[in-house]
Amino acid sequence: MASFGADDAGMNITAAPTGLPAAGAEMTFGRHGRRTGMTQPSTPTRPAAISAQGLVREFNGLTAVDHLDLDVGRGEIYGFLGPNGAGKSTTVRVLCTLLSPTAGRAVVAGYDVATQPGKVRLRIGVALQEAALDPKQTGIELLRLQGRLYGLSRSEIDGRLADLGQLIDIGDALGRPIKTYSGGMKRRLDLAAALVHNPEVLFLDEPTSGLDPVSRARMWEEVRRLNRELDMTIFLTTQYLEEADELADRVGIINDGRLVAQGTPDGLKRSIGNDLIVARLDASAARAREAVESLPGVLSVEAKGDEVVVTAIDGAEAIGAVAVALNTVAAVRHLTLRTPTLDDVFLELTGNHIQPNGRGPGEAGTDETTGRETVEVGR
Ligand SMILES: Nc1ncnc2c1ncn2[C@@H]1O[C@H](COP(=O)(O)OP(=O)(O)OP(=O)(O)O)[C@@H](O)[C@H]1O
Ligand SMILES: [Mg+2]
Repeated sequence: MASFGADDAGMNITAAPTGLPAAGAEMTFGRHGRRTGMTQPSTPTRPAAISAQGLVREFNGLTAVDHLDLDVGRGEIYGFLGPNGAGKSTTVRVLCTLLSPTAGRAVVAGYDVATQPGKVRLRIGVALQEAALDPKQTGIELLRLQGRLYGLSRSEIDGRLADLGQLIDIGDALGRPIKTYSGGMKRRLDLAAALVHNPEVLFLDEPTSGLDPVSRARMWEEVRRLNRELDMTIFLTTQYLEEADELADRVGIINDGRLVAQGTPDGLKRSIGNDLIVARLDASAARAREAVESLPGVLSVEAKGDEVVVTAIDGAEAIGAVAVALNTVAAVRHLTLRTPTLDDVFLELTGNHIQPNGRGPGEAGTDETTGRETVEVGR
């Protein structure tokens, strides 16, 4: 839950002209210049729920958010992915009117964050990275207080609590002091508090950091349900590749305050390269090249010992035909489709991994982080 009581220095930005530029294909350039034009032309078709142009936030000379352009459509789940210190929380705080922009402009739920912060606040819900929950309060006390802060009547609050009970699975714990909650329950309560006034746009700043895999999966389900059942726009920051990949319709990748890439998870991954199909045969793979290289979508074939490595434009599309063709050479014992990951995208653009070891703490061994989908075939 975010408290809107403690604004920083007043919003003194001059209002930009009303009316936002038409949505169009964007081009983003990696700071390292390794690759350009990574941004996918997948701008939302619905009216913007969040829009920013040239947004800058500085702290004593440090540029935490550096000329950010955003366009998040209504009903979209937008994943804002980046490493520690990339500027994710600062962006959220500016979009939620908790920090004033140093320059640029942002419009959220139809209102300018700098000149109409009150109107923005009524229409957004915010669960910040560090939830500030009073341990002595019970869950229900917190939710009622939050409802009153938004000016809801007692009966409206009762109605909302009933709705939230359906949406957010906190169960019997609501009557207990918050200090007895697990980390996952606290996050879900914080999410419920952010939803009491039925916001149009929900900001979640790293909603699953520090959660175990079960709690993380539950949080994902809540987020999906809010989006699906209420058509809520959700702006979600994360440093977990898997989270962005699983939840987000589109992903913006941020590094050093700059948006370095944007697009659908699949589009981003595909944009950095081709898929690899790795097969292990029951016999020598010497004749594999001949059998596979002329198949549609196959770019190259390497055979060594009993292993064949096929590079394909779209591995998922080619893998069936490749398996059939290889089976004419020898029985296929093992077939692996290796697709690029969002971390490969980040690496290509910045020269670094998103996480120091290239994966999130909860993601060890998952298919997404290794980029492997293993398909067992044959015997
Ligand atoms: N209030 C502040 N005063 C000074 N510097 C700040 C302040 N808040 C953030 N910063 C700096 O701005 C940069 C971006 O920080 P921010 O918290 O937005 O990153 P983040 O992407 O949310 O990181 P994390 O994944 O660790 O939460 C960092 O260099 C940080 O030290
Ligand atoms: Mg943060």
